[in-house]
Amino acid sequence: MSEIKKLIEALPKAELHLHIEGSLEPELMFALAKRNGISIAYSTIEEIHQAYQFENLQDFLDIYYAGMSVLINEQDFYDLTWAYLIKCHEQNIKHVEIFFDPQGHTTRGVAFSTALFGIDKALKKGFSEFGISSKTIMCFLRHLSEEDALITLNEAKDFLPLIDGVGLDSSEVGNPPSKFKNVFASAREMGLKLVAHAGEEGPPSYVEEALFLLNIDRLDHGNRAMESESLIEELKTRQIALTVCPLSNLKLGVVADLKSHPLKSMLDQGLLATVNSDDPSYFGGYLNDNYFAIQEALNLTKEQIVTLIKNSFTGSFLGDEQRNKYLNEIDNYLKNNA
Ligand code: HPA
Ligand code: ZN
Repeated sequence: MSEIKKLIEALPKAELHLHIEGSLEPELMFALAKRNGISIAYSTIEEIHQAYQFENLQDFLDIYYAGMSVLINEQDFYDLTWAYLIKCHEQNIKHVEIFFDPQGHTTRGVAFSTALFGIDKALKKGFSEFGISSKTIMCFLRHLSEEDALITLNEAKDFLPLIDGVGLDSSEVGNPPSKFKNVFASAREMGLKLVAHAGEEGPPSYVEEALFLLNIDRLDHGNRAMESESLIEELKTRQIALTVCPLSNLKLGVVADLKSHPLKSMLDQGLLATVNSDDPSYFGGYLNDNYFAIQEALNLTKEQIVTLIKNSFTGSFLGDEQRNKYLNEIDNYLKNNA
């Protein structure tokens, strides 16, 4: 294995853009379908892999929402999250800030608390067994109304100790951030962190709305912000972290190939870019696979990899003490392995 790959594996990392429902591996999907007596569209793993070929975001979302139909009981959400944490442990991921889609479950009759409690139980075990710290971010589905999002935020009020932030995901084009201005303002008043997917497929104006109307603390994807000098400047000045997802971008046609991915240019322009896996079961790789692929495609240097990994902690919602602890661990590793 090359030296740079060893470095990627060895350094402690944080993952800031991970939809827990998107970590549902085919094997677990089959097992849960059987356990819950639910029929799914596939009969073999092979069929699943054939179905996971996407032209765009909506192609993926249709299959992603169908996949989550096997998640019914708290134990299912626990098993799902635990499987992801085992991957984190294997990949030396020390901190995770995971998304879940409450409306993807409540619209099917699964209670908000069922999903949240199952996820939370696994996260607590991840901390006690592996020392992996975590934050939980509930995303609003942007193809639904703001009223629906407000109802979901209201449901979250009973569980605020378990929730750190809100996000915005699902079908971007036609559902601009401005549609969710009120619900984001309410979430802010409740003390929650704010993030939003913007500029994945949507135009730079959506990133602008996320920054100026929603007042986000962090930007998910943000690729198309690179089309605007003034947005780049704003992201740089505010030091807003971008949670970039290389293999996702490739699989959803956001970039034609990884060699034309804007990650290096983001770093060159002083943006706080991070690497993440988004929906690893659907896009063919967990966090380290994303680092390996983008490092090779863009020929990123050791220094650039270290910057990206440090950014994952700098851009996290950890408090200063924990953030510095991880950053020091990275520096110590580099010192001892120079
Ligand atoms: N974009 C928008 N919505 C999503 C994604 C994504 O990459 N993954 C899961 N929901
Ligand atoms: Zn995402």
